[in-house]
Amino acid sequence: KQPSTLNIEGDTYPTDQWTNTPDTILSHVGRRLYLDENHPLAITRKLIESQFPTPSYGNYSEKNPVVSTKHNFDVLGFPADHPGRSRTDTYYVNDKTVLRTHTSAHQQAYFQQIARNEKTRPDEVGYTVIADVYRRDAIDRSHYPVFHQMEGAMLWKRPATDPLAASKETAAKIMADVEKIPKHDVVVEDPNPTIHDQRNPLQSEHHSAEEVEAVAAHLKRSLERMVIKIFTEASKAAAASSGGDVEAEPLKVRWVEAYFPFTSPSWELEVFWQGDWLEILGCGVIKQDLLINSDVPDRIGWAFGLGLERIAMLLFNIPDIRLFWSRDERFLSQFRAGHIARFEPFSKHPACYKDVAFWLPGAAVTGGGSAAGGAVPFHENDVMEIVRLVGGDLVEDVTLIDEFTHPKTARKSMCYRINYRSLERTLTNEEANEIDLKVREKLVGDLGVELR
Ligand code: PHE
Repeated sequence: KQPSTLNIEGDTYPTDQWTNTPDTILSHVGRRLYLDENHPLAITRKLIESQFPTPSYGNYSEKNPVVSTKHNFDVLGFPADHPGRSRTDTYYVNDKTVLRTHTSAHQQAYFQQIARNEKTRPDEVGYTVIADVYRRDAIDRSHYPVFHQMEGAMLWKRPATDPLAASKETAAKIMADVEKIPKHDVVVEDPNPTIHDQRNPLQSEHHSAEEVEAVAAHLKRSLERMVIKIFTEASKAAAASSGGDVEAEPLKVRWVEAYFPFTSPSWELEVFWQGDWLEILGCGVIKQDLLINSDVPDRIGWAFGLGLERIAMLLFNIPDIRLFWSRDERFLSQFRAGHIARFEPFSKHPACYKDVAFWLPGAAVTGGGSAAGGAVPFHENDVMEIVRLVGGDLVEDVTLIDEFTHPKTARKSMCYRINYRSLERTLTNEEANEIDLKVREKLVGDLGVELR
C-alpha cells in the first residue's frame, strides 16, 4: 500500500521500510506561511529578524524540508541511539532522508556560506533562518506535526594558527561587540556559572574560558534583547485589549542550563509571562568540531533556535495551533503586517469526545518505545499518528486517561480520550462517530491492539 516513490517539491525519492511520511503531512509542504506578510507567523518572523539586522546578519528561509539524516543528525553530533532518530518521532522519506525536525539541519550549509562569502560579504558573519519543521508528537492545542522554527548564529574570526595563544585578543574583540548591543533594564536571573565541568564542559582543546565567557556574554545580551522586544510587544497588545485595566507585570527572564549535541555550554532562556516560566529558546556555544567540519575552522560563535508558533500564540493570543493553517477569513483578516493585536476568537464550536480503550498486543510493555519481555513495542506517537491520519484537523487533542496492567495476564490496557472539534463549524455526532469508527479499525489493523 506504500507508494514506491514520494514526490516532494518537484523531486522524487524512493521509499523503503523506513518511510513513514503520509500524504496528509506532505500536503503541508510548500505553504510558506511565514512569507504571507499579513500572517501571524510572518509578522512574528519580521519582529525577530528586526533584532538581527544586516549587515552582520543575513535573514533567510529554507523552502524544501527534505534533508539527509547526515545534516539533520550526524554532522550535529547526535549519538546513534538518540530518540530523535527514531521512526516514532521523525518523518522519514527513506532511510537516508527525513523531513527536517529542526532548522539546525541547515547549520552546516550556512556556516559554509559564510566561508564562501568571506571576500564578497565580509561583514555578514551571522544569519537567521526560518523554515517549516516536522515531528511526530502528541496532539493538543500547542502541538501540530508541522510547525516553524527560527534559528540564528553569529561567528567571530580567530587566528588560523594557535588560536588559543591569542584567545585574550579574541575575547577582547568579542567583548567590544557586546558593548555595541544596547543594554536593557529587565531583571535577568543567571544563577549558573557558564561552564560546568560535567554538564556543560569547556571545549578545552579548542577554547579558552575567557573566549567562551565573551561569546556567552554576546549570546545572552543578543537573545535577551530579542525576547524582551517580543514580550514588550505582547504586553502592549494585552494591555490595549484590556482597555488599560490590566497593568503589565514587569518582565523577568532567566537562563537555565540545557544540553544540545552541537553546543557546549548550552542554555535555555525562559520568560516569566502571566504567572508561568515559559521556555522560549535553546542556544549555546557552537561545538568547534562542527565549525571545523563546515569550512570555518578559524571561527568561534554561538547559535540559538526557537519555535515560532509558541511565540506567535502568546503575541496574538491564538488559542489553538491548528488556526495557523486556517484559510478562514475570520482568522486571516484579523492580522496585518507590522501590527501585534490580540486575536478575537470567532465562535467556538462544540467539542465531541470519544474514548477508546484497548489491550496492547503481547505481555506488559514499556511506554517509551522499547519493548520489555519480547512484546511488540508500543509508542504513543503511533496512536497519535493514526488519529491524525483519520481525523486530520478535526481532532483538538488526545489524552491518555487510563492505563493499567492486568495482574494475572500481565496484559496492558490503555484508554485514550479523543476530543473532536472543528475550528470552523459544528461537527455532528454522526460525523464524529464515523471518524472514530475508522480510528478504531486502524488501531486494530495497524497496531494489532484488541479493543475493549
Ligand atoms: N535545534 C534545537 C531544537 O530544536 C534548538 C537549538 C538551535 C539549540 C541552535 C541550540 C542551538 O531544540
